[in-house]
Amino acid sequence: MRSIKDLKQEWKNLAPRWIKEVREGKNSVRNGFLDSVMLDACGNVEGLSILDCGCGEGRFCRMLVERGAKYVLGLDLCEPMIKAARELQSERDEYRVQDVQNLSSINDETFDLAVSYLNQCDIPDFEANNREVFRVLKKGGRFIIANLHPMRSATGKWCRNHNGEKLHAILDNYFDEGERHCEMLGVKFTNFHRSLSTYLNNFIKTGFVIKEIIEPTVSVDKLKEYPDLDDELRVPNFIVYVLEKP
Ligand SMILES: C[S@@+](CC[C@H](N)C(=O)[O-])C[C@H]1O[C@@H](n2cnc3c(N)ncnc32)[C@H](O)[C@@H]1O
Repeated sequence: MRSIKDLKQEWKNLAPRWIKEVREGKNSVRNGFLDSVMLDACGNVEGLSILDCGCGEGRFCRMLVERGAKYVLGLDLCEPMIKAARELQSERDEYRVQDVQNLSSINDETFDLAVSYLNQCDIPDFEANNREVFRVLKKGGRFIIANLHPMRSATGKWCRNHNGEKLHAILDNYFDEGERHCEMLGVKFTNFHRSLSTYLNNFIKTGFVIKEIIEPTVSVDKLKEYPDLDDELRVPNFIVYVLEKP
């Protein structure tokens, strides 16, 4: 079992390459389709106070500010990510090094909207994150979560023929929840797999109403622009949950 210190170190190792890729506009998954799905799910953000859990170098916070958010607080465990986010900070976004499993520095019912853009798959206790976000959201506030699809976080590999062509995605060890060890941008890091029912039942147990579940895929136009997204037409790699605090 990786400790939170180990997980933090993994992100520290990954941060320089991550920041470079994002800032060069090379993150095709986000640019190609997830950003538009997340922005649509957020809806009109004008005048809203927004919390971003696991904000990375702040790209989505800046997008929310550009769309009229009154205030965006980005939290991330990784110091280099927060340092990079602060370099591009405006008067309407702010960044703090903080573990999103514990938001005790934030008062109850502070935010209109919270987002978690591919962060719950990175944290050992997503239930704590749900509880804390529920607490700091105002009544009627929404929590928009983009995550790895549980069908893909279980194994994530492809079965290939002898020419290396993809035959089909492998779904295995689905009920074996817990750590998965992978590599991104040449750096080893840890993800967490949980089943779909584990996620959904915890959202309900926490008190959220599930307003929508989106399984995003890529459009034909975007596929021309980002041909490496061809997997997205075949299998659901990502899932977006739209939750509301009643
Ligand atoms: C896949 S990146 C996504 C970054 C950003 N949301 C985006 O979409 O560009 C996941 C981020 O979660 C952060 N993270 C991982 N565990 C965390 C935790 N316990 N608390 C806060 N941030 C965490 C990592 O440092 C990393 O920046």
